[in-house]
Amino acid sequence: MTVNILAIESSCDETSASVISDGKVLNNIIATQSVHEKYGGVVPELASRAHQQHLIPVVHEAITNAGISKSELSAVGFTRGPGLMGALLVGGSFAKSFAFSLDLPLIEVNHMEAHILAHFIEDPRPSFPFICLTVSGGHTQLVLVRDYLDMEVIGETLDDAVGEAFDKTAKLLGLPYPGGPFLDRLAQEGDPKAFDFPVSSMKELNFSFSGIKTAVLYFLREKLREDAHFVENRKADICASVQHALIEMLLIKLKKAVKTFGITEVAIAGGVSANRGLRDALSVLSQRLGWNVYIPRLEYCTDNAAMIAMAAHFKYEKGIFCPLDVSPLAKMKIGIHE
Ligand code: KG4
Ligand code: ZN
Repeated sequence: MTVNILAIESSCDETSASVISDGKVLNNIIATQSVHEKYGGVVPELASRAHQQHLIPVVHEAITNAGISKSELSAVGFTRGPGLMGALLVGGSFAKSFAFSLDLPLIEVNHMEAHILAHFIEDPRPSFPFICLTVSGGHTQLVLVRDYLDMEVIGETLDDAVGEAFDKTAKLLGLPYPGGPFLDRLAQEGDPKAFDFPVSSMKELNFSFSGIKTAVLYFLREKLREDAHFVENRKADICASVQHALIEMLLIKLKKAVKTFGITEVAIAGGVSANRGLRDALSVLSQRLGWNVYIPRLEYCTDNAAMIAMAAHFKYEKGIFCPLDVSPLAKMKIGIHE
């Protein structure tokens, strides 16, 4: 019998639903919330309300587009955490009621594990064990992935996530929200060596991105005092230089992880893996150092329900379900499966 799983993602500001059939993702419907644009960042309460508005149409579209009826579903997967509590509550409550009303098993998914499992949506798929650099708006982690559900964080940021560093720099430069992709685009026209920004290095495989944020702020203040048009005139160079420093910080630790574990199977995941500079730098490294590098298609880098569906599929195969009274987790560790 075909196994059809409906999955829902609502951890931040994308409302998404996807149907996966026997491990093959059939669709990935995403409603992006534009309501946050004028605030220059995600407003949690507005995100929850927008999820409420978008969820039913998005789920309806995913099921219709898959060409199945609700009675043909085998399970419902949803993001339990980490993420914004209100946003998780909306998606989670819907998933529970939906599963309960159709008498279907429920599968909780860790959003950060799902970012990694997005690599199994399509070829080429990494082989185990591999090292994944997971870079998003809320997290920066180096993960040793031994199996679909066997993962261990071997390094992480001690303060800000790298996505935050991109977004905060973009905000200082007056770029629209979310700033990462805009900074990326401008960086492609700039000189990465134009300005020097500090490349901080923490102990072992950990990262820190709070220092560069302050460095950019002071740098801009000083330059603007000398020339009021500095940002306008040098925007692309500033973007390219900050991006260069951020990518350096990521790659130093990634290289160290590869060396420490002797694993050259390397993947990147999460919203920041959409970054052109990072993707290009990794391709160069892979050729120079003989790594096998896996970079997801753009659609599967940023938040989406297809990755949640993929993660739910692996849990379904192992018969790992959760009770209806499971509560969302704003913070959630990876690699723990009771
Ligand atoms: O994984 P994601 O979609 O959501 C979270 O789970 O946080 O990641 C969002 C982050 C934001 O900080 C966004 O600015 C960043 O990913 N991002 C990028 C790019 N595309 C998205 N950062 C740099 N360059 C990009 N092209
Ligand atoms: Zn994410």
